[in-house]
Amino acid sequence: MNATIRRYRDSDRAAVYDVCVRTGNGGQGAVGLYSTDELLPDMFAAPYLLLEPEHAYVVDNGDRVVGYIIGTPDTAAFVAAYRARWIPLLASRYQPPPEPPVTAEDQRLSDMFHPERMIRPELAAYPAHLHINILPGYQGSGHGRALMGAFLASIAAAGARSCHLGVRITNTNARAFYARLGWQPIDVRAPEAWMFLVRATSDP
Ligand SMILES: CC(C)(COP(=O)(O)OP(=O)(O)OC[C@H]1O[C@@H](n2cnc3c(N)ncnc32)[C@H](O)[C@@H]1OP(=O)(O)O)[C@@H](O)C(=O)NCCC(=O)NCCS
Repeated sequence: MNATIRRYRDSDRAAVYDVCVRTGNGGQGAVGLYSTDELLPDMFAAPYLLLEPEHAYVVDNGDRVVGYIIGTPDTAAFVAAYRARWIPLLASRYQPPPEPPVTAEDQRLSDMFHPERMIRPELAAYPAHLHINILPGYQGSGHGRALMGAFLASIAAAGARSCHLGVRITNTNARAFYARLGWQPIDVRAPEAWMFLVRATSDP
């Protein structure tokens, strides 16, 4: 059966977690990297599924979800909702790390407990943001382009005219994909391993 793009359903949650941990860490995968494989999905997938499910789309191969796009039309509102509704749910499973963070996991936890890091003044004119991840066996078949089209149309309908995203500088595959889809670099003060890209939501 050909894979299709459809809206996210609650029953997709475990598969989204699986895709996230297998494709996270700049596309390299993060299985076994931290004390729990749920750490990355708890940061980069779950809050969007909880707070913005209407903007979540998946690739369904007929058996399971093999890719997804998630995000928000309004990063500032998302950050406020994350603090109010997601942080309380994290508290029973994670402890805030020492500050400044010592280990790589501490750094992840610090980011997890500080969603305000997502608000960057240089990106104020690009209020939406997204994350996109597809399992290796399903990459390079047009699903990324289709997911991006669905997401940009969804956030445009919610009033977002422009969007940003962060990508690891070393993730050359994703950078080539974004460039092909019209994303442009923007100068942002950010951790040195990262760069930011922007584009309008029209003409996805
Ligand atoms: C990056 C990713 C989402 C791209 O999705 P995809 O399904 O592989 O991309 P598509 O097949 O839809 O490609 C869309 C276009 O980008 C181009 N493209 C994609 N990857 C490319 C690459 N590595 N080099 C050059 N062009 C590329 C395609 O040729 C295609 O062009 P066309 O539509 O004009 O023919 C996917 O590869 C992925 O999930 N990677 C791992 C996780 C990741 O890195 N996520 C991003 C984190 S910021």
